[in-house]
Amino acid sequence: MFPDAAIINQAAVTTIVLSGLALLAGVFFIRSGEREKHMRAMLTASALAALFLVLYLTRLALGYEKAYAGPEEWRTAYFALLISHVALATANLPLAVIPLGYAYKGLKAAGNLARVEQVAEAREAFAKHRAWVRWTVPVWLYVAVTGWIIYLILGRYGEVMGH
Ligand code: HEM
Repeated sequence: MFPDAAIINQAAVTTIVLSGLALLAGVFFIRSGEREKHMRAMLTASALAALFLVLYLTRLALGYEKAYAGPEEWRTAYFALLISHVALATANLPLAVIPLGYAYKGLKAAGNLARVEQVAEAREAFAKHRAWVRWTVPVWLYVAVTGWIIYLILGRYGEVMGH
């Protein structure tokens, strides 16, 4: 049973890293004015993050957990990293869902992405989208990078609990 959970854990960290890369691609596309590509990249990033959540919850249900067993002088730093990661990962859910909701609303009001400027309701929805994603992007990137770092630390210094 435990090797399976370890593979799920690897798949989970892969989805986090890929979601971070899709997010960066999405930011790059909107900066280049490529709205259609921005939408696709961000929907991909969101789908990968949702997949992460499913894999993570499956792993928890299997009871697979690793404890830190590295150098004592790094224990506090490790827990600070872990707690900030978990707290911001939780915050990331509404931080992603809310701007997605505004993007959907704006797109529906405009009909297509080229008409956003012409429709007041779409302009307003995307103004809110912009205001939210100022927080979403840095939080999401922090969660993706720290998730990967924690995985690497536990790969080196982690012990599977209950064994
Ligand atoms: C959670 C997923 C998403 C994130 C993190 C995100 C992030 C961003 C960022 C960083 C910007 C630039 C903001 C700025 O210039 O200050 C932006 C703008 C924009 N996004 Fe997204 N986005 C997401 C999903 C979407 C989706 C699904 C669509 C399409 C339906 C979309 C459509 C747009 C448009 C049209 C703009 C330009 C808005 C304007 O300048 O008025 N976004 N988004």
